Amino acid sequence: MTRRHLIAGLSLASTWLSGSAWRRADSQVERHHDVDLYVALAQRAEQAGLDFVFRPDTVFLDPLSQAQGPGTSAMDPTLLLTCVARATRHIGLVTTISTSFQEPFHIARTLESLQLISGGRAGWNLVTGLEGQDNFGHRPFLEAGARYRQAEESLQVVQALLRSYPDQALRQDRSSGLYADTRAIRPIEHQGTYFQVRGPLSLPAGRHGRIPVFQAGASEDGRGFAARHADAVFAATPTLEAARELRTELRQGALQNGRAAHDIRMLPGLSLYLADSQSEAQALFEQAQVHLGRAQRLAKLASILGIAVDGLPTNRRLGPDDFPEPLLPVRSRTHAELVRRHIADHRPTLNALLEAPEVVASAHWQIVGTPEKAAEEILAWLDADAIDGVIALPGGSLGSAELFIHAVVPALRSAGCLATQDSVGLGLLQRLQGARPT
Ligand SMILES: Cc1cc2nc3c(=O)[nH]c(=O)nc-3n(C[C@H](O)[C@H](O)[C@H](O)COP(=O)(O)O)c2cc1C
Repeated sequence: MTRRHLIAGLSLASTWLSGSAWRRADSQVERHHDVDLYVALAQRAEQAGLDFVFRPDTVFLDPLSQAQGPGTSAMDPTLLLTCVARATRHIGLVTTISTSFQEPFHIARTLESLQLISGGRAGWNLVTGLEGQDNFGHRPFLEAGARYRQAEESLQVVQALLRSYPDQALRQDRSSGLYADTRAIRPIEHQGTYFQVRGPLSLPAGRHGRIPVFQAGASEDGRGFAARHADAVFAATPTLEAARELRTELRQGALQNGRAAHDIRMLPGLSLYLADSQSEAQALFEQAQVHLGRAQRLAKLASILGIAVDGLPTNRRLGPDDFPEPLLPVRSRTHAELVRRHIADHRPTLNALLEAPEVVASAHWQIVGTPEKAAEEILAWLDADAIDGVIALPGGSLGSAELFIHAVVPALRSAGCLATQDSVGLGLLQRLQGARPT
């Protein structure tokens, strides 16, 4: 059978240290802020023919969380990926920058710098941010819907800045003394609701083409934003049905916005706890969650849903009526909605709910098992038209990352769904677009 092309990405966030996993003897937790670890991983991913590496980002830290693990502490993703760029040649580099906290001018210059340094391999994971407003006191943290309107304006300004000093304006004509054609360099004079930016950008842009936009956040506002603007969506879809539904909706949304359905690629996060046997993989998963006692699980549930959960009954199955509307603003409506959907679909007891991966680990698609099992399941989701690719999030140990690169990816290649040697050397946008349209 002819298979659709699968876009393969690997997250360089140290998800393999999450939960209690950092306490394993072989976790290499001491190298959490050692750029060489990530560079070496990206080099192996490149050799295996992956399309891109990806680095998420947050800009806040709960000091108390540091007693239990690395939490949200992390170095700047674009600086890290700049080092990766210098040590690799082909692989795409997707960095995360929040439109709620960074000025568009800074975003445009940072992205174009990564694009130049990497020779056209940059991608922007555009997020509206989870938390961190107290670190950026000069502006309020808007409510979730307004953050997307701000993101829309930020993207518009970033794109205008990237056109404001086109690379073609450069003349660098030694004989006439003309460095650049100033007729082609234009201020953007943007006066909007959230930003006032004169421009132009202080760097000629566009030599390596357009920088693709990834988007994460699947509330109605998030989906609308993605349908209008995103080249790829980093999604949290724990079930095949959720993935297929989101992919279908995004593709329809793209069509309604005058784009082709295949202009938008749905790439769910795929949390992978991999080992040579099913029982070892299961042990890896359970070991990573041992720190979570009942009180911590309840606290996680309360935080995801934005409600108090103390009074929930323990003697019967739960349903949507047991969970009122949020009292507090939730961090991610996407995550809250996935947990509410799990409750409606499974009607779990409280004990079962406190075991659900959506509550204890993450809302991502989760595979705990052997590389063969992972490859089979990925192919099944691809063949069911539920995904266009994956962003692998290795869990439990660095061994999960190694097995993804060295066992799952070759199995996918044998199945005929990964990029051919011809696509090596292409920029990230072409690699995304190289996927066969359906
Ligand atoms: C899969 C996924 C990944 C995300 N990654 C990040 C991230 O790396 N950094 C960040 O600040 N926000 C991240 N977010 C948050 C989103 O950008 C967004 O702010 C949040 O989900 C609220 O939007 P929503 O209401 O559409 O869910 C992520 C959200 C999802 C669903």
